[in-house]
Amino acid sequence: MVTPTARAAATETGGVRDADDDPQGDGRRRFEELLASESRVEPTDWMPAAYRKTLIRQISQHAHSEIIGMQPEGNWITRAPSLKRKAILMAKVQDEAGHGLYLYSAAQTLGIDREEMFDQLITGRAKYSSIFNYTTPTWADMGSIGWLVDGAAICNQVPLCRASYGPYGRAMVRICKEESFHQRQGFEILLALMNGTEEQRAMAQESVNRWYAPALMMFGPPDADSPNSQQSMAWNIKRFSNDELRQRFVDMLVPQAEILGVTLPDPAIRWNEERGHYDFGDLDWTEFSEVLAGRGPANAVRVSRRRTAHENGAWVREAARAYADKQATASAASRASAAPEKIAS
Ligand SMILES: [Fe+2]
Ligand SMILES: [Fe+2]
Repeated sequence: MVTPTARAAATETGGVRDADDDPQGDGRRRFEELLASESRVEPTDWMPAAYRKTLIRQISQHAHSEIIGMQPEGNWITRAPSLKRKAILMAKVQDEAGHGLYLYSAAQTLGIDREEMFDQLITGRAKYSSIFNYTTPTWADMGSIGWLVDGAAICNQVPLCRASYGPYGRAMVRICKEESFHQRQGFEILLALMNGTEEQRAMAQESVNRWYAPALMMFGPPDADSPNSQQSMAWNIKRFSNDELRQRFVDMLVPQAEILGVTLPDPAIRWNEERGHYDFGDLDWTEFSEVLAGRGPANAVRVSRRRTAHENGAWVREAARAYADKQATASAASRASAAPEKIAS
């Protein structure tokens, strides 16, 4: 559902406007000025149709990833090893739901309807981060997801706090604060396991072995194979290239892995004095493409669970809509009855 304000904003800017809607070029000049001065583009500003389209795609995919991302961890809520772990995991999964909602709201300010985005997701037309198509067979996966997946998300998302589109950048500020809690709780789960029994240490290591490479792939294909990145960087949406962010992530992981006592499953990792960074080996992009193409371990189940949850929640949306309508009618009626008194006084 698009809020009235968002709809008004989208209508004022013409929904999806391009150069034809800006014959004098004033809108484009202002847009270029905003980018050049590192200012924010707001929903009521003119923006090129391609910029709007790119943002709708990126923000909605990001929102879908947060919502689908609840599933692999939701899988462990009933089986968390203690009450404390259960409470932390529930809070974390709820945070992800909140992230999805902030992001759907940000996408709506660009003129897309929330129902349309939901529909794209549950009919399998929308993309979301491939990382959530992997399964979580062990408790240690809760640690690896927090440490590696949320860790990669932080590297990706901190620069997005400065994204040129205002509603997106502002949503990211809060999301990043919560992501850093997620990363720490994952690290702490692994630390507890690594200080535990032989079996627990083996479980942690086995899990890190499975999640390490997929987490590195979360930054997207190598720069040479990422043609849209340049345009996103020119629009101040993306601030660093995929390879730069991946390098930053590996540099962050290596010392943390040493503290944990886990081995990162890449024999090529070593400090490169000259570059001032850790070198690391090539990734198996064939597997990435398979998962991206929908042939990952859990692609079908993730979308079908989401569809079932959406259908089961129809009564909640209906009730919320009926309540909102009732409130709107009541406040219109009270405004109408209050008006004459105001005039009289
Ligand atoms: Fe999140
Ligand atoms: Fe998270």
